[in-house]
Amino acid sequence: MIRLIIPAVALIALAFTSRVTTPEPAVPQDHPVLVADFGYIGATRCRTCHRKEEDGNQYGQWEATAHSKAFATLAGDKAKEIAAAKGIADPQAADECLKCHITGHGVDAALLGDKYDKAEGVSCESCHGPGSEYYKKATMEGITAGTIDGASVGLIEPNEQTCLGCHNEESPTFKGFNYDEYLAKVTHPNPNLN
Ligand code: HEC
Ligand code: HEC
Ligand code: HEC
Ligand code: HEC
Repeated sequence: MIRLIIPAVALIALAFTSRVTTPEPAVPQDHPVLVADFGYIGATRCRTCHRKEEDGNQYGQWEATAHSKAFATLAGDKAKEIAAAKGIADPQAADECLKCHITGHGVDAALLGDKYDKAEGVSCESCHGPGSEYYKKATMEGITAGTIDGASVGLIEPNEQTCLGCHNEESPTFKGFNYDEYLAKVTHPNPNLN
C-alpha cells in the first residue's frame, strides 16, 4: 500500500509543479545523458535513414569523399613514408596518425558500439558527435522540429572549428584550409530542409 501511495504523492506533486512552470524540454536538463558520455554507433547506423536520394543521400555523399578512406590511406605508400621518417612502423596502429584519421580515437573502448568500425575513417560522428543518444527516429525528428535540443543528446552542429580540429599544421601533409572551399567538397544538404 505504502509503495503505491508514495508514487501517487510524487505524481500529484509533479502535476502541480508542471502546471506552474514552462513545459518540460523533451530531455530534462538533469537527465543522465547530460552527465554520461555518449557512444559511437558507426556510419552504417546513420546509413539506415540517411541514404535516400530525395533527402540528399548524406551517406552516399560522405562515402564518396576522402573522409571515408582516411583509415585506408594510412596503409598506403605515402603514409608509410611519412611514418617511417618519424620512426613509426605502422601508421594504422599509431596514435600520432589515428587521432585525425579515424572516428572517436582515444575514447574509452566501452563507448564504441558493436557496429563501430575504425575502417570507416572520418565518419559522420567525427563531425556530428557520437550518436548513441540522438540516432533514434523520434529524437532526430524532434531535433529537426526544434522540440529537442540536439546538444543535450550529443548532436554537434559542425562548423569551421570542427574541421580545424584535424585540418591544422599538426597534419604532416597540411596544405592550408579554406572553410568555404573545403566545405563545398563535403557538404550534403537535405533539399527538403533548406
Ligand atoms: C532512424 C532513422 C535515423 C537514423 C538512424 C539517423 N537519423 Fe539523422 N535524422 C533522421 C530524420 C528523420 C531526421 C529529420 C530530417 C530529415 O528527414 O532528414 C534526421 C536529421 C538529422 C540531422 C539534422 C538535424 C538538424 O539539426 O536539423 C543530422 C545532422 C543527422 N540527422 C545526423 C545523423 C547521424 C550523424 C546519424 C548517425 C549517428 C543519424 N542522423 C542517424 C533519421 C535518422
Ligand atoms: C577527425 C578529423 C577530421 C575532421 C573533423 C575533418 N576532417 Fe576533413 N579530412 C581529414 C582527413 C584525415 C583527411 C584526409 C583523408 C584521406 O585523404 O585519406 C581529410 C580530407 C578532407 C578533404 C579532402 C582534401 C583533399 O586534399 O583532397 C576535404 C575537402 C575536407 N577534409 C573537408 C573537411 C571539412 C569542410 C571539415 C569540417 C566540416 C572536415 N574536413 C573535418 C580529417 C578530418
Ligand atoms: C567532415 C564533417 C562531416 C561529416 C564526416 C559528416 N557531416 Fe553531415 N554535416 C556536416 C556539416 C558541416 C553540415 C552542415 C553544413 C553544410 O553541409 O552546409 C552537415 C549537415 C548534415 C545534415 C543536415 C542537412 C541539412 O540540410 O540540414 C545531415 C542529415 C547530415 N549532415 C548527416 C550526416 C551523415 C549521415 C553523415 C555520415 C554518413 C555525415 N553527415 C557526415 C559535416 C559533416
Ligand atoms: C592533426 C590531424 C592529422 C594528423 C595527426 C595526421 N593527419 Fe594525415 N591528414 C590529415 C588531413 C586533414 C589530411 C588532408 C590533407 C591535408 O590538409 O593535410 C591528411 C591527409 C593525409 C594523407 C594523404 C595526403 C595526400 O596528399 O594524399 C596521408 C598519406 C596522411 N595524411 C598520412 C598521415 C600519417 C602517416 C600520419 C601520422 C604520422 C598522419 N597523417 C597524421 C590530418 C592529420
